[in-house]
Amino acid sequence: MDIYKIAVIPGDGIGPEVIREGVRVLDAVASLDGGFRFEWTHFPWGCEYYLKNGRMMPEDGIETLSRFDAIYLGAVGAPGVPDHISLWDLLLVIRKSFDQYVNLRPVKLLRGAPCPLKDARLEDIDMTFVRENSEGEYAGSGSWLYRGKPNEVVIQNGVFSRVGCERVIRYAYELARREKKTLTSVSKGNALNYSMVFWDQIFKEVGRDYPDVETHSLLVDAASMFMVKDPKRFQIVVTSNLFGDILTDLGAAISGGMGLAAGANLNPERRYPSMFEPIHGSAPDIAGKGVANPLAAIWSASQILDFFGRPEWGRRVLSAIEQLLVEGKTLTPDVGGTASTSQVGGAVAAILER
Ligand code: NAD
Ligand code: IPM
Ligand code: MN
Repeated sequence: MDIYKIAVIPGDGIGPEVIREGVRVLDAVASLDGGFRFEWTHFPWGCEYYLKNGRMMPEDGIETLSRFDAIYLGAVGAPGVPDHISLWDLLLVIRKSFDQYVNLRPVKLLRGAPCPLKDARLEDIDMTFVRENSEGEYAGSGSWLYRGKPNEVVIQNGVFSRVGCERVIRYAYELARREKKTLTSVSKGNALNYSMVFWDQIFKEVGRDYPDVETHSLLVDAASMFMVKDPKRFQIVVTSNLFGDILTDLGAAISGGMGLAAGANLNPERRYPSMFEPIHGSAPDIAGKGVANPLAAIWSASQILDFFGRPEWGRRVLSAIEQLLVEGKTLTPDVGGTASTSQVGGAVAAILER
């Protein structure tokens, strides 16, 4: 019997509501399989913890997490705690400490999911974003000079290292080769004359090792336009940290909404635990009402199964989500239903069991 030890950080707002359903679905999968099980350890870290303890997690939080096989996170952020503190001291510090340099975000329109693009066919929206997740615009490098004075200056540096760019771009090429898909790099070399020129150069250099992979390069402004006007151009997409953040919310919008968008923060070498989370935030506008869509959290739970070498179960969870959407009877309000968060989680588990 394989035992997967998972650290669960439900976090804030709708985080705990949706994570509960992901845990339930993975437990259902494990008991159907019989050959593995999950051992969950919950950590009550987040904004409430911050308001009590003056920090988002204990001092040895990273060390504690390092002993797990994976981390399953809900969402972080609550009114009353500045977002740059809550996110930097929990989510971002985990991504960085565990060198989770690949953020893998599927943008796939499932049957039955609402799509605002009037002419889009199902097969037109089927992409995987490989978002750089360790540096770039999110390096946290900068300074704030003469704070509050008339000559106040802030500097936020983008940090693009050769190692950092090469490894994420190579990961994307490997994925494109394995899945026999095209690879599109999204950058902005016309305006960002150091970082993005460098990115484009490395995209070409690494590409020499992959003559079999068809590549495209787009500027991020045009890429965002094409995602709406002609999404079938995109299969595997590799891009920087900030561009990937923005484009994957756009991707969520064209593939069913924030309630369906999943992501995996991977340390591909498995030297450290990887972290799985829906890409949405804590949604304070709907928190506590029991109406948050848990399908994004459940989809990221399916990525845990893929990552642990159980891709047939990952696919089955995804097709259970799809079946639920097609049946259309048990859905939360964001995707046109009236069901509660836990009814949706229960329905996914029930589909798996039948
Ligand atoms: P958000 O993703 O929380 O919400 C944006 C909109 O999408 C809201 O209208 C919300 O109701 C809706 N939405 C999101 N998830 C949903 C779901 N599962 N079901 C139904 N509707 C859903 O983004 P925001 O409002 O910009 O940020 C809120 C807080 O979350 C902020 O503190 C922000 O910093 C934080 N945040 C955290 C993460 C994370 O932890 N990974 C990600 C994004 C934002
Ligand atoms: C995401 C989120 C985070 C990011 C924030 C909350 C720091 O928006 O995971 O997409 O920008 O990476
Ligand atoms: Mn985001």
